[in-house]
Amino acid sequence: MGRLAGQVAVITGGANGIGRDTALRFLDEGARVVIADLNEPNGEAVLHVAAERGHRDAIRFARTDVAEERAVEAMIRCALDAFGRLDCVFNNAGIGGAFGPIDETRVEEWDYTLAELLRGVFLGMKHGATAMKAQGQGGSIISTSSVAGLAGGGGAHGYSAAKAAIISLTRTVAAELAPHRIRVNAIAPGPLMTELFHRRRSTRGSLTSRGSRWRCRQRPRTPRA
Ligand SMILES: NC(=O)c1ccc[n+]([C@@H]2O[C@H](COP(=O)([O-])OP(=O)(O)OC[C@H]3O[C@@H](n4cnc5c(N)ncnc54)[C@H](O)[C@@H]3O)[C@@H](O)[C@H]2O)c1
Repeated sequence: MGRLAGQVAVITGGANGIGRDTALRFLDEGARVVIADLNEPNGEAVLHVAAERGHRDAIRFARTDVAEERAVEAMIRCALDAFGRLDCVFNNAGIGGAFGPIDETRVEEWDYTLAELLRGVFLGMKHGATAMKAQGQGGSIISTSSVAGLAGGGGAHGYSAAKAAIISLTRTVAAELAPHRIRVNAIAPGPLMTELFHRRRSTRGSLTSRGSRWRCRQRPRTPRA
């Protein structure tokens, strides 16, 4: 029996990179999983791979923009409706976000970056905690920060600020939810060769170009609803 047998997890950004590999690993360990992501084609591809591994009935895809509260509520509801419980929320979806000199960064670039990276984690914690508290059996909320949130120079300023804030938010929410036996943790990976990493590298050459003011190129191609 796998280490996660009987457990139900929601994984944001589960259609690609870290989230996808986590979802497949969770399935192999016996969990049932909802992958929540904006990218439907990649989400479908993960369902296909999961089915090939014998997990067809243990996985769902919920098209979700983690920056939108109603979508996050729906993502949690999807897990409860499909699998009847919620044990883990992995707030992992992310983008590179605004990239470039601080004195050239526009407010909408900043706001967009913080909404995708930080509001998304806040919403996952909020609605994950609501479901877990109602269930009364504890749980685990994990969020993806980054080494960029621990030290300067690890990423762009908006990205670094959001990732640092995730660590702070994790500490305060962990203390708040401990009496409910809900563990709250963050992970802080270094560079991993995912698409996000490669997209960031490919945009570095244009960082000082004044022609391209909107540099949130890591945004998923699938448009919002
Ligand atoms: N790759 C690295 O080097 C690295 C290092 C440290 C931290 N991280 C963090 O790890 C997490 C996962 O990154 P990855 O490297 O696997 O990237 P990735 O691009 O491979 O996967 C990110 C996924 O998040 C989804 N996503 C983006 N915005 C979304 C939104 N608003 N709503 C729902 N889904 C959304 C994308 O569609 C994609 O499937 C991110 O939070 C990232 O900041 C990555």
